[in-house]
Amino acid sequence: MAQIELRKLVKSYGRNTVIHGIDLDIADGEFVVFVGPSGCGKSTTLRMLAGLDEVTSGEIRIGGRVVNELDPKARDIAMVFQNYAIYPHLTVRQNIAFGLYTARLSKAEKRKQVEDAAAILGLTPLLDRRPSALSGGQRQRVAIGRAMVRSPAAFLFDEPLSNLDAQLRAQMRIEIKALHARLGTTIAYVTHDQVEAMTMADRIVVMKDGRILQAATPMEIYDHPGDVFTARFIGTPSMNILAAQAEGGAYVPAQGAGRVLAGVRPHDLIVGGDGTGLRLEGQVTAMEPLGPETLVHFMAGPVPVTASAGAHDRFEAGQTVRAAAPVDKVHLFDPATELAIPRG
Ligand SMILES: Nc1ncnc2c1ncn2[C@@H]1O[C@H](COP(=O)(O)OP(=O)(O)OP(=O)(O)O)[C@@H](O)[C@H]1O
Ligand SMILES: [Mg+2]
Repeated sequence: MAQIELRKLVKSYGRNTVIHGIDLDIADGEFVVFVGPSGCGKSTTLRMLAGLDEVTSGEIRIGGRVVNELDPKARDIAMVFQNYAIYPHLTVRQNIAFGLYTARLSKAEKRKQVEDAAAILGLTPLLDRRPSALSGGQRQRVAIGRAMVRSPAAFLFDEPLSNLDAQLRAQMRIEIKALHARLGTTIAYVTHDQVEAMTMADRIVVMKDGRILQAATPMEIYDHPGDVFTARFIGTPSMNILAAQAEGGAYVPAQGAGRVLAGVRPHDLIVGGDGTGLRLEGQVTAMEPLGPETLVHFMAGPVPVTASAGAHDRFEAGQTVRAAAPVDKVHLFDPATELAIPRG
């Protein structure tokens, strides 16, 4: 069993506190993805889990055991970094076997474990090559293979795909997810790519400034973001958010401060639509034909807004457009706290 528990976890560098008392339970076998902007404390959290950074206060438990004082080696977890270090002078087979360096296994057992891992990762035909003869994605898989053979209680990944091109990244997303389904090992995974978070996570943990804003399933976060930051951070293109007031049953842009912040995803804000939740009007600044739909950028008064139009709809800059969203696609936030206002 390798559930991971963080209790009031704090990390300070001198007088500068970068993690402000995080509480989180990761279930045994769960795939949790930490997301957040640069500097929010994702790597620091992972490094404390791994035992590479000391905890300032609070507690980390892995499999029920407090590990604060344990060496990285004693924690039974394997970490894969962004700049995965694989040895250039060793073959794929030797690189993977390096993960078994300290294991008390016979040669035959080690060989079998390495070959099993290679098979799962699609590396069997490459076992005798050196890293210089591998693609970026293949090297990445070697690094994962080396972590895998240790069969750790948990895997920690820190932006493992950020060096790869878009296509390889998409492929590796699927492979890592399949690997998790197969091994069922607990995974804590850091990224600032919200597509990775949405597609791979059982649960997303949104961090900002050393705090957890929301921890929930991807769809829960997408459909019900708990605050303005999370609403904007998850989802591409970003959610439109503007001060609004009720008028004739729908929300419209507020004159002045406004009583609420209304949020709507571009995909739900339809140019020429008849939704009765939010109505906006303004001058087109640009459009982006994406294929399946056309994004239309316009100014709703002083606020730039993005809406969705049909695949073949075309607009001129300066042209006036109207867009509307249905009631159930409008998210409301308190302007003072920026927290979601629950709707009954
Ligand atoms: N050794 C250190 N000494 C002082 N401050 C540090 C140290 N390491 C990290 N920090 C600070 O801690 C904060 C969190 O850093 P961390 O590396 O965890 O961010 P991150 O969320 O992983 O960001 P990124 O997405 O850029 O990797 C940052 O403000 C960083 O400057
Ligand atoms: Mg980092």
